[in-house]
Amino acid sequence: MSISIKTADEIEKMRVAGRLAAQVLEMIAPYVKPNITTDELNQICHDYIVNVQQAIPAPLNYNGFPKSICTSVNHQVCHGIPGSRILKEGDIVNIDITVLKDGYHGDTSEMFMVGNKPSILANRLIKVTLECLYLGIEQVKPGNHFGDIGFAIQQHAEKNRFSVVREYCGHGIGRIFHEPPNVLHYGEKGTGEEIKPGMIFTIEPMINAGKRFVKLLPDKWTVVTKDHSLSAQWEHTILVTDSGFQVLTRRENEMIGSISKKLI
Ligand code: MF3
Ligand code: CO
Ligand code: CO
Repeated sequence: MSISIKTADEIEKMRVAGRLAAQVLEMIAPYVKPNITTDELNQICHDYIVNVQQAIPAPLNYNGFPKSICTSVNHQVCHGIPGSRILKEGDIVNIDITVLKDGYHGDTSEMFMVGNKPSILANRLIKVTLECLYLGIEQVKPGNHFGDIGFAIQQHAEKNRFSVVREYCGHGIGRIFHEPPNVLHYGEKGTGEEIKPGMIFTIEPMINAGKRFVKLLPDKWTVVTKDHSLSAQWEHTILVTDSGFQVLTRRENEMIGSISKKLI
């Protein structure tokens, strides 16, 4: 299957879905504090998506996933299942939201530090991973290739002595949650398909403080680092425009590119 080019009508619906997904992250942020369980975060997001947004939490029952959001804590890389775990001071947690509205998906995730004294390593990992996402996003323009995105991300992660998870990647998105292409977070410039206006896909680098290797827990969902090192991830849904990109899941007070510009 080839990479779909969205129509103007589809792009409008993707904008709506993307905005809703971003708004769930804005809504949940103040709740991410010591002593809350990941299940409580799931319930609050679920109720907000269903009752306020009148949308569908796409993860629920997706390939059997049992909850409405993913919560991945500390050495969990992605697809953590909300449950009775109580967040404590110093934890880091990724909250991954996918909203389905009017037949279209918006997919985005954010890292949160629990409490206000994160370790220096956690702080640096989260910051570098966000920079990786932004550097990847800045490669999105017609004529560039998907490998340019992966190259930019891998370079920045490894320059900071972190590693890039290979087993999971970004993805095309639209009516279908995960559609072509696979958007790798590592690679070589000029490789992969050409990026064209009207494509919509996610970029969602998973960066480990230790080695890149991961394993799947017996729950068949939660991915963790093999060496138990910390892992971070940020995700946006990106539209390719005639001149570059638009971030469909940008949060209200998020300045895209402001970090990466400082790096150059
Ligand atoms: N939101 C995840 C992604 O970024 C996918 C979660 S699938 C689930 O692609 F089933 F685990 F929810
Ligand atoms: Co995604
Ligand atoms: Co996601």
